[in-house]
Amino acid sequence: MLPSSFLRRTVTTGFLVALGLAIAGHAAEPASETRKPAKSPDVVYVPTPQKVVDKMLELAEVKAGDIVYDLGCGDGRIVVTAAKKFGVKAIGYDIDPQRVKEARENVKKAGVEHLVRIEEADVFTLDLTGASVITLYLLPSLNVRLMPQLAKMKPGSRIVSHNFDMRGAKPVLTTPVHLEPGDSDNTFFEEDGVHTVYKWIVPWEAEPATK
Ligand SMILES: C[S@@+](CC[C@H](N)C(=O)[O-])C[C@H]1O[C@@H](n2cnc3c(N)ncnc32)[C@H](O)[C@@H]1O
Repeated sequence: MLPSSFLRRTVTTGFLVALGLAIAGHAAEPASETRKPAKSPDVVYVPTPQKVVDKMLELAEVKAGDIVYDLGCGDGRIVVTAAKKFGVKAIGYDIDPQRVKEARENVKKAGVEHLVRIEEADVFTLDLTGASVITLYLLPSLNVRLMPQLAKMKPGSRIVSHNFDMRGAKPVLTTPVHLEPGDSDNTFFEEDGVHTVYKWIVPWEAEPATK
């Protein structure tokens, strides 16, 4: 497990910087005809860099027959990549109609409509038992809130999370992904260029709380 100072730094530098950029970005956006979310998103939109997406799916050992759900799918990059690279079915869920619209456009652009569905939904209302792989880029507290739903998944299902752990569940692995300044779409560069991927296999081993 990485030291808590690392997590704190990642949350503060990564997400809070991203929050500022997201707010600035939204302020500059032209008025959109897209509806407002039915409920405020629990976390702002920050895309996972493609190199990290690739590592998440590799570590999840995605293979033929898997069904991948991305909870809070943003522009759909994770589910599109899963379908394109591994030919698997995937569903992306997002609460924000703007993200749902973008993700559906990206699914179409990638020509994977026969494999990928994008749904507007609050992830905390979902039955996750149909997935064999779940991808997350939310927040540590949101991962913990999802645990009762995630625990109902079939044994052997994999969960991978970008940058955030799930307190109380011991990961089977924690892997750094090093990004370089030249990496494409590296918009939200971590302070030191290091992102982290966490992996759990259902049923996960409980991890005693540490202070
Ligand atoms: C940090 S972004 C991650 C996007 C994408 N998974 C990726 O890694 O590129 C989190 C996404 O979760 C969505 N979101 C926040 N709260 C949600 C909720 N309760 N239900 C569904 N989506 C939610 C946001 O709209 C945003 O698109």
